[in-house]
Amino acid sequence: MKILNQLYEGKAKQVFATEDPAIVMVHYKDDATAGDGAKKGTIRDKGVVNNRLSNALMQKLEKAGIPTHYVQELNDRDTLVKRVEIVPLEVIIRNVAAGSFSKRFGVAEGTALAIPTIEFSYKNDDLHDPMINRYHALALNLATAQELDQITDMAFRINDILRQILLAANIRLIDFKLEFGRLPDGTIILADEISPDTCRFWDATTGAHLDKDLFRRDLGGEADAYQEVMRRLVTE
Ligand code: TMP
Ligand code: ASP
Repeated sequence: MKILNQLYEGKAKQVFATEDPAIVMVHYKDDATAGDGAKKGTIRDKGVVNNRLSNALMQKLEKAGIPTHYVQELNDRDTLVKRVEIVPLEVIIRNVAAGSFSKRFGVAEGTALAIPTIEFSYKNDDLHDPMINRYHALALNLATAQELDQITDMAFRINDILRQILLAANIRLIDFKLEFGRLPDGTIILADEISPDTCRFWDATTGAHLDKDLFRRDLGGEADAYQEVMRRLVTE
């Protein structure tokens, strides 16, 4: 497949057109930001881990009946995916209190939640991705009610599937962020990535952070932690 011009560059990825208008290529960088872009750096070989891990998890989700954008891994950092129109919502599922949930509600990090929760953020860098509810999303025409129902249902199913896959690797899935896209026919599919950048992974035995919180909080050891997650979860 011939790779054409760059369409978009984000904080962690670049997207390129291909000769097939229905397919784009994602390139994963090592660049990392935190605190709404206030902290900038790199995490060695993060792009490799995020590319390979996200692809491995999306393939498992596909097998479990979740439609995703995954098409083909080209190499360690490049993957072909279906071209979608991204629904401008960050969909966050939480199993255990951490991060902004702990701060907002005054609950200690690590407190198990009575049920898994869902929340949405409006993907808008200028507004710093504010939290948004279902009615706001409808009022702003970000998605239809049917799309929001589908996204919610898929996000909780993805949680059930990922929790099992991770627990088999002795990792607790604390919380994670998903993004969904629309195909030209309107079908909603899982897009973006599933990686230590977008999930909180804690070692199930020691509670050690195996995710981007090591970078966000200046704890150190993030490059090794990303490698450890890949070692446990990417077998081929
Ligand atoms: P939070 O506790 O900071 O709201 O984060 C919840 C989850 O979402 C966590 O697994 C990290 C992920 N996340 C992103 O993927 N991108 C972001 O910009 C933020 C703020 C969080
Ligand atoms: N999206 C955040 C930023 O760019 C990073 C994060 O906390 O994951 O600063």
